[in-house]
Amino acid sequence: MIGRLNHLAIAVPDLEAAADQYRNALGAKVGEPQEEPDHGVTVVFIELPNTKIELLYPLGENSPITSFLEKNPAGGMHHVCYEVDDIIQARDHLVETGARVLGNGEPKIGAHGKPVLFLHPKDFNGCLVELEQV
Ligand code: CO
Repeated sequence: MIGRLNHLAIAVPDLEAAADQYRNALGAKVGEPQEEPDHGVTVVFIELPNTKIELLYPLGENSPITSFLEKNPAGGMHHVCYEVDDIIQARDHLVETGARVLGNGEPKIGAHGKPVLFLHPKDFNGCLVELEQV
């Protein structure tokens, strides 16, 4: 059911420093910061030949990244995003297998203007999973 790894997301305590490190030390193609108020994050996308890296920084009062950074002050792996063809079909199948969908269970529009859903990390070996319909 899942397809390509769309991106891997890393929560960072200093977005500019992290973007500079990927640009200069790692020599990657780094995009401009994008604010996503619906998700409570500012995002920088890094284009790799086979996938993307998403640097996440808190935006606004109730950002999910704030509590993550309190637990992981140096930053850390936040989620993996897999591509699916049909997000509603994927969600319904996952719910049937006992997986929990975060929020109200309905897809939101994600950073690439496509519908996304998040699955409970406790149901996936401690790893938050994002699904993106492509
Ligand atoms: Co993501």
